[in-house]
Amino acid sequence: MFSSKILGTGSYLPEKILTNADIVQKVETTEEWIFDRTGIKTRHVAADDQNTTDLAKIAAERAIEAANIDKSKIDCVLFATVSPDQVMPSAACMLQAKLGLQRCAALDLSAACTGFVYALSVADQFIKTGMYQNILVVGAEVLTRYVNYDDRDTCILFGDGAGAFVLSRNEDETSNAKIYSAHLYADGYLGDLFELPGGGSAHPVSVPMIQEGLHYMRMKGREVFKNAVRSMNDCCKEALEVNNMSEPDVQWLIPHQANIRIIDAVAKNFGINKEKVIINIQRTGNTSAGTIPIAFDEAVREGKIKRGDKILLAAFGAGITSGSMLLEY
Ligand code: UT7
Repeated sequence: MFSSKILGTGSYLPEKILTNADIVQKVETTEEWIFDRTGIKTRHVAADDQNTTDLAKIAAERAIEAANIDKSKIDCVLFATVSPDQVMPSAACMLQAKLGLQRCAALDLSAACTGFVYALSVADQFIKTGMYQNILVVGAEVLTRYVNYDDRDTCILFGDGAGAFVLSRNEDETSNAKIYSAHLYADGYLGDLFELPGGGSAHPVSVPMIQEGLHYMRMKGREVFKNAVRSMNDCCKEALEVNNMSEPDVQWLIPHQANIRIIDAVAKNFGINKEKVIINIQRTGNTSAGTIPIAFDEAVREGKIKRGDKILLAAFGAGITSGSMLLEY
């Protein structure tokens, strides 16, 4: 069986920034409330002419450059998103065309904010079996197009962004890089805690659907919060137990960036020093499937994450989905 190595990472955040002061102009809230309750100060917002695959293209080009491979060698594109440019064709196919990749496999994966961890795990399985050798794994969203800027519960949280990895068969004899394990879960019966009902077959696009505001995300924040802490704690514990490791064996925890209080609760439960937790939520807000690859790439480029480091990823999202992954970079 082969093992997987992250050959290169890349990310992209659009230029336009939405500050807490901007949000105060839209809904009844304060800059202090938003920062105290979420840890977010700013989020990036895609320009009108930028769609999800445009953000992904830049992140992917950066990942391919960092991986130092010819893009013709990519044999699969796996795209985690819940905000694709169109219902069809898939974002993965659109990205393949934009990058000028040769004929290869391309598919989207929908697991909301857990999407990138799910996609990385699927990619790892393809590599382990020998089916593919170099997979472009992307997590990208333009969720701000689905935010109701009259809803103070949700409009404070979300931003746009993209992250990408080139995950490849590890052929470097000097490297122990691999994915140790992934633990992926869903509690579908909790689907109504966080949803975007409009635009699908249950509520096709229509004037009444839009009048009801079903084309916006809606969330029971407090319930999502509780489930997030519980599920991320469980997944992190399982990852360490299955691999016979404990906190000192792990150099970095990269949690989904949804709320600083969720991150703090998970870090506390895990007993991990906050210095070992990668956090960028104050600048980015919640970019859903984008948070983990963006935070990962920034930490690599800042020189924090080094080859040989063991890294724990932990995520949760609409579904309710959750998952963890333990890997060596
Ligand atoms: O990737 C998964 C995506 N979702 C999440 O991760 C969301 C998880 N949940 C959260 O992050 C938090 O639940 C929120 C940030 C959304 C809300 O924070 P909270 O501490 O759970 O607040 P709450 O919903 O319990 O509301 C407390 C109070 C309420 O007022 P009353 O009923 O106590 O009078 C809300 O109406 O805060 C009020 N409130 C606000 N006040 C000022 C809610 N939103 C705001 C706001 N500004 N933006």
